[in-house]
Amino acid sequence: MNKIAFGCDHVGFQLKAEILAHLQGRGVEVIDKGTDSAERTDYPEYASAVAQAIGRGEVDGGILICGTGVGISITANKFPGIRAVVCSEPYSAQLSRLHNNTNVLAFGSRVIGAELAKMIVDAWLDAEFEGGRHQKRVEAIAAIEQQRN
Ligand code: RB5
Repeated sequence: MNKIAFGCDHVGFQLKAEILAHLQGRGVEVIDKGTDSAERTDYPEYASAVAQAIGRGEVDGGILICGTGVGISITANKFPGIRAVVCSEPYSAQLSRLHNNTNVLAFGSRVIGAELAKMIVDAWLDAEFEGGRHQKRVEAIAAIEQQRN
């Protein structure tokens, strides 16, 4: 992934500068969707902005941070075509790319520190979807998205 949209809430904001610097150090172009301060705000706004940027094809994927990564990933997963994973360790981040073709990585600034977050980001960015037997499973997820309850 060469171009990433980034979003966080006020709790995620504390990790923002380090993660953006890390991405830029890897040569990843980042579109910053906020938030831009530690002032209290609501994570759905930033998850939506990142998911919509992916949906419009402006970026290859997204990275989201809130307190736990939970609310912000749940929101992102409401958008068609978004496969967001919340990770606290690199193995799941890597496998989420290899097997699930995730296009959004989320984590929690109250759960992990900056160095582990960077390892998770690297594991996620370094892995490519394997396709093969996993392709039909990802297609099945997309088909479920089309169903009405
Ligand atoms: C905000 O207090 C907190 O709920 C949010 O950052 C996130 O952890 C939600 O899932």
